Amino acid sequence: MEITVIYDNSPGEMGWKSGWGWSVLLGRDLLFDTGSDPEEFMENLRKAVAPSSVKEMVVSHGHWDHTAGLFPLVRQSPGIKVYVGEGFSHKFEEELKRKGAEVIRGNGWREIRPGIWIGPELPGPVPEQFLVVEGRERVLLVGGCSHPGIEKFAELTGEKFQKPVVIMGGFHLFSAPEEKIRRVAETLKAAGVVMALPAHCSGERTLEIFGEYFPVKGTGSGLRLELP
Ligand SMILES: [Fe+2]
Repeated sequence: MEITVIYDNSPGEMGWKSGWGWSVLLGRDLLFDTGSDPEEFMENLRKAVAPSSVKEMVVSHGHWDHTAGLFPLVRQSPGIKVYVGEGFSHKFEEELKRKGAEVIRGNGWREIRPGIWIGPELPGPVPEQFLVVEGRERVLLVGGCSHPGIEKFAELTGEKFQKPVVIMGGFHLFSAPEEKIRRVAETLKAAGVVMALPAHCSGERTLEIFGEYFPVKGTGSGLRLELP
């Protein structure tokens, strides 16, 4: 499946906007998170696909740097299905519905398309869910900020799919001490992680340290990858 990074902290392709936030397009019509700046997010999205063709999207958690593009996207793609976790704000849900979205609230493993799953929402500073794409050989785990812990998402994913795991997204380790980053890397490795694409709030040190445990690749707005 082709994965396009729509919005990331790191600059990627020339002409694409970047800033503190995160958004990824899976294939041509499934979106995960919507960045931190509505205009910049929509501008980037248009470079990849017509916004009206995005029919479904998953919101990892309710923070501004993952939800800022939701309203303009819903305006461009009325009837879009927006998958949120049980802990998602009811006020935000009502607002999305008023603007024309179909909001689908749930928890636990949910297969939303063949081989595409939403993982259980875990508690944390803010409840958060994640996305898994099951490939033949490996599975791809896409996280938002991973506030509950990327290692917890990876353990659940490794247990469920029993395949090597590639992780991508914000790992929220930008201010973590080195020992913590190493502990997380060890747990990830034990959970079956074979490759990482740290993005957004992961932090530069995370790329360096994770690289001692498994192959690591940086991301950036506009980056296109074939995964899992
Ligand atoms: Fe974030």
